[in-house]
Amino acid sequence: MNAIFEQTLLELEKTQNEFWNISRETGNFLNMLVKIGKYKSGLEIGTSNGYSGLWLGEAFKENKGKLCTIEFWEKRQCIARENFKKCEVAEVIEPVIGSGVDILQRWERPLDFVFLDANKAQYIEFFNLIDKHLIKGGVITADNITSHPEKVKPFVEAIQSDEKYQTQILDLPAGLLVAYKIRD
Ligand SMILES: C[S@@+](CC[C@H](N)C(=O)[O-])C[C@H]1O[C@@H](n2cnc3c(N)ncnc32)[C@H](O)[C@@H]1O
Repeated sequence: MNAIFEQTLLELEKTQNEFWNISRETGNFLNMLVKIGKYKSGLEIGTSNGYSGLWLGEAFKENKGKLCTIEFWEKRQCIARENFKKCEVAEVIEPVIGSGVDILQRWERPLDFVFLDANKAQYIEFFNLIDKHLIKGGVITADNITSHPEKVKPFVEAIQSDEKYQTQILDLPAGLLVAYKIRD
């Protein structure tokens, strides 16, 4: 990671609560996971100002892959676009403005990596729409599993009881669920 990247992360961490960003630990873990899995076709729901997108984008750039990131709050996505340009990851990130469910209903591309960090109560809807696009060997990750247990409960119960997935909730700030698709 270059100096501009590190400097931008530190700057964004000053407004972490305002923009509901993931923790640095979660960002670092997701960055490593994308590199370890050599994922190339990623989707994030919940861009905000692009903090998590920077962590993900750096890894997708190294993998020569692409990340699509969805946000319905236009102003936030504009800030994210600037951050992506500044850190030279804009060429691997496709920012899309709109509602996660609407966009997923029209989704056609196969995915090997997904990060859910939008409306917690909608995780179950996102999962139901994403499942058919996620290839075997891909992962779904989701933040706020321990910070918002009631809201994410339908999603957590559904994915933990789905035999296509091997799952683990990691003790990172807010709680991160990682679900590995072991079969189609
Ligand atoms: C927790 S923040 C995302 C933080 C970001 N992942 C990060 O760590 O930098 C959630 C964002 O998702 C957006 N959002 C919530 N529900 C959404 C939906 N259904 N579709 C698109 N965006 C949504 C909100 O406007 C908000 O900016």
